[in-house]
Amino acid sequence: MSAELLSIARARASHGPQEAGSEFQQDLQRALAAPPHAISPKYFYDAEGSRLFDRICELPEYYPTRTERAILAGFAAEIAECTGTGGDLVEFGAGSCSKVRLLLDALRPRRYVPIDISTEHLEQAAAQLEREHPGLLVLPLAADYTAAVRLPPPLAGAPRIGFFPGSTIGNFTPAEALQFLRGAARLLRGGGLLLGADLVKDPALLHAAYNDAQGVTAAFNLNLLARAKRELGADFDLQRFWHSAFYNAAQQRIEMHLVSRERQDVTVGGQVYTLQEGEALHTENSYKFGIDGLRALATQAGFRPGPVWTDPQRLFSVHWLHAPAE
Ligand code: AVJ
Repeated sequence: MSAELLSIARARASHGPQEAGSEFQQDLQRALAAPPHAISPKYFYDAEGSRLFDRICELPEYYPTRTERAILAGFAAEIAECTGTGGDLVEFGAGSCSKVRLLLDALRPRRYVPIDISTEHLEQAAAQLEREHPGLLVLPLAADYTAAVRLPPPLAGAPRIGFFPGSTIGNFTPAEALQFLRGAARLLRGGGLLLGADLVKDPALLHAAYNDAQGVTAAFNLNLLARAKRELGADFDLQRFWHSAFYNAAQQRIEMHLVSRERQDVTVGGQVYTLQEGEALHTENSYKFGIDGLRALATQAGFRPGPVWTDPQRLFSVHWLHAPAE
């Protein structure tokens, strides 16, 4: 009976045209049809996109993953003092469940509930984790965690501890982030949220992280079009688009776009769209945060912010946000 939480995606998705097609097709067609030509970055993550993202996390320029891992590993004991042990650990967007491994020995959760939209990835990772940790109950949930999620009812004396690492919260607009945090604070009442957030920094470092020398981030961005070809029979010629990623300082975010190199026609779902030279599909926002700003947002959402852990260079932050019982 806990079909609680998080109706960001639902609020956005309208009931589309008659011949419908998948949600991806509808959203892509809507993005192509009219400004602001934006589509959710959640569509990056088919099997191929998830593989490319895992490669991004290994890139020398992409500091967030290794920095956050170092913070989690280095402060696991302090983190456990906040979360307590024996709780229900719920991870939003768990992917390959690799970061949670850094916490399991210290947090010793009773159950672990990884939520992710990439089903195969998730099932595999969950099975593997369960093999490695006998005694840990892993209950994978294949779902879009920005929509309503149905969690297993809490066990007595096992507060829900949310885990939202990777600065995935940066994919939300500030209004969506507030809405997500409000839902999370309700869902996690009596426990709290361990939240990873990338920090505002020298734009040169940000630029490098999203424009890596090997072109993996470009391939990740372009995979959205490759996926549309595979799944929707769209006819994109990937050579005719380039990967654009830049820091928008006024909005405190990296933006990624797929820019048309020339005037061209593309077909999706039997519908033809004309793209002008330089016209772009906006594929991702990745917001960066100030520590105080994030704590203020969390407070507004109903959390009581606790300790914050960072690396010595202050590249990345991990926040404990207590969710009061009432
Ligand atoms: C998974 C959203 C945190 O914004 O850094 C990485 C995704 N996009 N490189 C990020 C991403 C391009 C990543 N998040």
